[in-house]
Amino acid sequence: MPDHEYRRAIDLSRAIAIEVGTPRFYLEKAKEVALSREWFANEPMSAAGLRMVARRNTFPGHGLIHIEKVAVDSGALVLIEEKGKISDSRVRRLVFLAHLAGIFHDICRSEREHAERGAEEVKKHLPFFSLQDGECADIINAIRNHEAFQSSPNRTGCAPQILSDVLYDADKFRWGPDNFTETLWAMILPRGIPLKTLLTRFLPRLEGIRQIRDSFRTPTGREYGPDFIDRGLTIGQKLHAALTAAEQREKELPCEGPRPRGGISQQERRNK
Ligand SMILES: [Fe+2]
Ligand SMILES: [Fe+2]
Repeated sequence: MPDHEYRRAIDLSRAIAIEVGTPRFYLEKAKEVALSREWFANEPMSAAGLRMVARRNTFPGHGLIHIEKVAVDSGALVLIEEKGKISDSRVRRLVFLAHLAGIFHDICRSEREHAERGAEEVKKHLPFFSLQDGECADIINAIRNHEAFQSSPNRTGCAPQILSDVLYDADKFRWGPDNFTETLWAMILPRGIPLKTLLTRFLPRLEGIRQIRDSFRTPTGREYGPDFIDRGLTIGQKLHAALTAAEQREKELPCEGPRPRGGISQQERRNK
């Protein structure tokens, strides 16, 4: 697909997303999301982690925007689940660990069994952050458990489990509108996948996304996750319909050579 057609399709996906509206989570939990974002931005360790991840540069389909959103939403979920106890140093620490888990969760995204591989790879990076042994184990556990359609072991309701569950939910929030406004394009652009091929895979993929609706793990994820997914599915259906119609119009256009300067085209001449 030529660049301008990709651009048009991306713009279209973003216009549809605006029409479909912001997920309720960002409206009703705006305070927690803003606070998590502020802590993330003001923490030099976040920037250091992002630089480590960027150096690997292995993100087909999952760019740094994805990583930052997962980190910030993971932190917001901790704040919500912990009832906003922001003066509690334990909660603040948990938000920091959630940010780190978010930053590193897709470090092996381009590899098979990327969650398991990422859990191993992150061990090389965590010593930089001077964490306690238990904190390292919690982050490793969260990364290992973040993949969709896999069971999450050790559901004990203790801190490590919360860390694991918020990472999963924040990552799966991305299967909502972001899937069609960002992830889809980040996957197909570098690979030069033509629009026609994209359209044939589109509807089965929507079915896969629908199945994530019931997999959210925290109470907050279960409350807001389905709303993300439903909005994403609506965007996907509208986008599929619009791109299919555009391709149909393209097919129906008459084949003609370049328009002569100041003259009329062959088609116009035939229509006269
Ligand atoms: Fe992942
Ligand atoms: Fe991810």
